[in-house]
Amino acid sequence: KQVYVINGPNLNRLGLREPNVYGHETLSDLEAFIKEKGKQTSCEVSCFQSNEEGQLINWIHAAGDVGAGVILNPGAFTHYSYAIRDAIASVSVPVIEVHLSNVHAREAFRHESVTAAVSRGQIVGLGFKGYHLALLALMEEGEI
Ligand code: DQA
Repeated sequence: KQVYVINGPNLNRLGLREPNVYGHETLSDLEAFIKEKGKQTSCEVSCFQSNEEGQLINWIHAAGDVGAGVILNPGAFTHYSYAIRDAIASVSVPVIEVHLSNVHAREAFRHESVTAAVSRGQIVGLGFKGYHLALLALMEEGEI
């Protein structure tokens, strides 16, 4: 079983970026965390991060081609990228949208997700744990 963890723009700045919102742990910490959770459930977890919309779209397509479930944090693209929305809609593998912060407790522009409606589900505000919960959902519900 294969899962792609795809993180979008500015998530390479985790640990440095607005630590009051996102905490002090880094992207490497997050990737090590979710890979370890994958190992525990015999799931091959591959991690990707890009600040570029097209690259994120290519990885979503690639996940569809290899049949890998996707845990996706599209960062700010969540709120306005119809191209990423269409990429999610173009694959038949389940895509679970995750946000580290509670976007609903933040600025109004973060309350809307253009990607959530075409995703299998959405988990927000639970930090790294959200990625683990998404992995469990993909594994335990027989989604992949
Ligand atoms: C985020 C929330 C987005 O609004 C923001 O633009 C991010 C991170 C989160 O994980 O909480 O870059 O996706």
